[in-house]
Amino acid sequence: MLPDTVVAPASLDTRAVHAGRQDLTELGVHAPPLDLSSTNPLPDIDAGGESYESMATGGHPTEGGAVYARLWNPTVARLERALAELEGTDEAVAFASGMAAFSAAVTAAANRGVGRHVVAVRPLYGGTDHLLASGMLGVETTFCAPDSVADCVRPDTCLVVMETPANPTLELVDIAAVVSAAGERPVLVDNTFATPVLQNPAAHGAAIVLHSATKYLGGHGDVVGGALAVSAEWATAIRPVRAITGGILHPLAAYLLHRGLPTLPLRIRAQQATAAQLAARLVEHPAVTRVYYPSVESGDPQGLLGRQLRGPGAMLSIELAGGYAAAQRVTSNRRWFTHAVSLGGVDSLIQHPASLTHRPVAPEARPGAGIVRLSIGLEGIDDLWSDLEDGLR
Ligand SMILES: Cc1ncc(COP(=O)(O)O)c(C=O)c1O
Repeated sequence: MLPDTVVAPASLDTRAVHAGRQDLTELGVHAPPLDLSSTNPLPDIDAGGESYESMATGGHPTEGGAVYARLWNPTVARLERALAELEGTDEAVAFASGMAAFSAAVTAAANRGVGRHVVAVRPLYGGTDHLLASGMLGVETTFCAPDSVADCVRPDTCLVVMETPANPTLELVDIAAVVSAAGERPVLVDNTFATPVLQNPAAHGAAIVLHSATKYLGGHGDVVGGALAVSAEWATAIRPVRAITGGILHPLAAYLLHRGLPTLPLRIRAQQATAAQLAARLVEHPAVTRVYYPSVESGDPQGLLGRQLRGPGAMLSIELAGGYAAAQRVTSNRRWFTHAVSLGGVDSLIQHPASLTHRPVAPEARPGAGIVRLSIGLEGIDDLWSDLEDGLR
């Protein structure tokens, strides 16, 4: 069990290093232990049953311990504590992937008795868009632009879903404006691109903050995971969904994610510095018709940079004058950029959203054939630039 009282140090950098590690001294260890137990010895029937009941109804383990690893795991709980501290929420709940986290959020919202209607602000990550459009989770979804949320919500709307910066064209959406348009309805914000280093959606009124931890939180391309940072009330509603549907994050993945958090602010700042310089150079490149990046001209029409988003981040997309054929060339045979989906790691990736990450999205919402998305890593800027120049030639 983790101690209940945590005094969060002021700076994000300090929190990133120490969050979720409060019980280590008491345990007599310096690194968080990795507990791989699938089941846990019970002190007696009563205590075991009581703990089981507490977790099955969304709470934490009691004296009877963790009982079973689909309900609770201390390594996962430490990561959750850390993510909650970084996002400024009461709690976090970790999942086997970002999509598992999203599915649990929708399921929890749709089972509150309000209704089964979702409003989704486009653009969204292709998988999120596809899942909602498919109706697979038993919810009806109305897709809309950020400024028409108020017109789309209904009495049976149980959740409003949005993403900012949005994947893949980096649109910035005003969280507070969507929250206000949503009225009583909870707003879920996908914070994967920004990370808690650059943006804390809960501070702008979001009820649920979603992360594909596979991306920047992991940062090394070796973990698939997801998380929801939420109030204690939402955590209580979400944990039973996770326990019943079986979406909990594996402890090894939690260990790796927690291990990577202390360097998250450093990684984001360094990757962002390179991305900002590359974006500025790409704006001048004759083969590029548009650069999608928050700090370039036209990238932030509402002035959200600084007010909501603390920096432009390390993701950028470019639109190529040569369309699909040019996209084929720039994604092929790069020396330093790996042609691969996913993002947020220490190595740079390049991919074509219309063919891959956003392939299942309805044609009217799919990114153009000339758009290529770049995830900027920690390589030297001159190496990345020569790679891009070569591909754009
Ligand atoms: C913005 C965003 N949200 C959610 C997801 C889904 O996360 P995962 O692949 O971990 O399930 C992704 C994956 O690419 C993403 O880019």
